[in-house]
Amino acid sequence: MNTPDAVDRLLGRMTLDEKIGQLNLLAAGEGIATGIAGDNTLTRRLDTGRIGAIFGTKSLASARSMQERALAGSRLKIPLFFAEDVIHGHRTVFPLPIALACSWNMALIEETAAFAAAEAAAEGLHQVYAPMIDIARDPRWGRVAESPGEDPYLASRVAVAMTRGFQGAQISAPGRVAACLKHFVAYGATASGRDYDNASLAWEDLLGTYLPPFAAGVRAGAASVMAAFNAVNKLPMHCNEPLIEGWLRSRTGFEGLVVSDYTGVRELIDHGMGPAPVAVARALHAGIDMDMVGEDYLAELPALAARGIDAPDCAVSFSAGEIVALIDRACRRVLRFKADLGLLDDPFRGLTGRPAAPSPAAGRKLARKAAAAAAVLLKNNGVLPLRRNAQVALIGPLGADRANLLGTWSVSGRAEDVVPLDQAIAALTGHMPATAFGSNIVEEQWLVARTNVHGVTVEPDERPEAEMLAEAVALARASEVVIVAVGEAKEQAGESSSRLSPDLPAPQRRLVAALAETGTPLVIVVFAGRPLAMGHIPNQADALMFAWHNGIAGPEGVADLLFGVDEPSGRLAATLPAAPGEVPLSYAEEPTGRPFPGHFAKFRTGWLDLADDLQRFPFGFGLGYAPVRYGPPRLSATKARLGESVRLTVEITNEGDRPAVETPQLYLSDPVARTTRPGRFLVDFQQVSLAPGETRAIEFVIDAEMARYPVAPSLETAEWVWDPGLVRVHVGPNSRDTQMLELTWQA
Ligand code: NOJ
Repeated sequence: MNTPDAVDRLLGRMTLDEKIGQLNLLAAGEGIATGIAGDNTLTRRLDTGRIGAIFGTKSLASARSMQERALAGSRLKIPLFFAEDVIHGHRTVFPLPIALACSWNMALIEETAAFAAAEAAAEGLHQVYAPMIDIARDPRWGRVAESPGEDPYLASRVAVAMTRGFQGAQISAPGRVAACLKHFVAYGATASGRDYDNASLAWEDLLGTYLPPFAAGVRAGAASVMAAFNAVNKLPMHCNEPLIEGWLRSRTGFEGLVVSDYTGVRELIDHGMGPAPVAVARALHAGIDMDMVGEDYLAELPALAARGIDAPDCAVSFSAGEIVALIDRACRRVLRFKADLGLLDDPFRGLTGRPAAPSPAAGRKLARKAAAAAAVLLKNNGVLPLRRNAQVALIGPLGADRANLLGTWSVSGRAEDVVPLDQAIAALTGHMPATAFGSNIVEEQWLVARTNVHGVTVEPDERPEAEMLAEAVALARASEVVIVAVGEAKEQAGESSSRLSPDLPAPQRRLVAALAETGTPLVIVVFAGRPLAMGHIPNQADALMFAWHNGIAGPEGVADLLFGVDEPSGRLAATLPAAPGEVPLSYAEEPTGRPFPGHFAKFRTGWLDLADDLQRFPFGFGLGYAPVRYGPPRLSATKARLGESVRLTVEITNEGDRPAVETPQLYLSDPVARTTRPGRFLVDFQQVSLAPGETRAIEFVIDAEMARYPVAPSLETAEWVWDPGLVRVHVGPNSRDTQMLELTWQA
């Protein structure tokens, strides 16, 4: 039943209550077990046909019994669909999304999403609440962990790769699920990095930075979207008609389903959008088709459909007929979504356990490859790669950790599946490194570093810090090289986990400083959920690798890199600040008038108290073991008209004796425009493998469309404009170390 007509016929047979029931989206909670006649909100809703979908089911058997019960309770036998937060893998947990983005490897990202889809589908899931494609430029915000980073172009590519990976050609195909682009929109722009806060930004920023990943996801065919908790420019997203019905549906042509976030409709009341009936009318009118958990649609819509609503205090007025039409609109979208999933033809589609989940061994292999691709080598003075027979000490709170390395939003992952770094090194080298973990030095108030095999936090080491430091220092002195495993606890990043100071927790900074005093070479590996300000760490390290919370095979992927089984190839998807007070931060920040060259140089835009020896690691940055040289770039023409394209060619050479994976990046800047523009912005990149000594000519095609930018006195009057004149073209290995050419667009 895939035609709109069939859906309309079904809709025509439904009562108002049945339609409202379809808009209700509930959490499974403990679920229901086969054959047990439980009595709770969920079962009452199932028995009376007042539920459209369930998320968070924990087993195939439980989902199947919920479907049976829903069909028994539904006069027209309308099935449920099942959803889950599958953010970076399902049972097989891959590196965090921010880490995967650092691979800049779209085929790999697509493969991880496809694997997650196959695992999720085998457990009866039809929709995943991913990809999360919020641009994040403030590392204080804990949800940076789930995001593809700071750049709209890279995030758009990730949105496409993940949507394709989840959905394949058809969401009803075996092993595929519907993607849900979230959180619509500008959740990453919330004030001061505080979670759930509101965002106020120029429409140009919204259009040019925060919306493009959603446009890309829609173009890739994403079947659903989730609204964000925040307001954008004074209007909460759960009642933001101009952005949902206006931009998302009218401008991008999105025809799928829009779900609320968890109690997002009810939260409109606290946003000051009116009491429950008004909030519900506003949400439905804005285009929120399903109400997650709050049940406010269920409670309020019957009366609204009977009487309409008139609330002059917030200028909201809908007749009963208008509300009925809005209910029909939302219900039609829910039914179409179910039809597209194949559920109206076969309510047990996906609930039979066939096809079976892909093999866990294949998942671990992919997770290991992804972890190696996601880690970013920031410094190497030659100490890496390590010899397998080197006398290595492993020191630091994350050296034997399992649970923290899963990272946030790994709802179906198991800590016991993580092979910790000490064991990964032992497996690779044939001997266990000498260790000193100092289990309570993640941070005084975060005593969660060391976990047992079940992921349960064990008692922290109660010894005084001085004693643990002395142990670590003695071990370092007796070793040839030290691997220092530091970072954040899982709970320090993720939802509702903003940090005031996004840097390495103080006790770990003290540990690194003490180890640096020993003179033994330090290889520092950071396992974290956000871009951390590195402070003095790079100066103390002989090698520094930012490995993120990287999933069940994360430490194995890192061990592969440290011992040269694999080549480091990750590139930062977000700038690492020098100091925490620098945030929010992006390579694309706009130029200002100062420092004015010469005379006014003392009027700096930076910070008086930022030490000169601290450095940012820019967006796009990352090292390999082999040096790669960029030759002089050339343009096929220095002038071009709208509609024409220009080729940029640059030769890159692997000057080392190891293979290299290089990611040449192409940026533009627009020195004269109608509005201020980003200092530079990414428009394309490639990823190439180079054998030792190999030279390769890289070609980029530049066209005028890449230089379009939004001008938006208001959302409704927004235009993407193109101007003739000069653009600067920058090519290089990261957003900072580029070579520049000039190109003129002719009118
Ligand atoms: C709230 C989160 O914001 C969202 O990302 C998630 O999908 C829902 N809860 C459901 O778990």
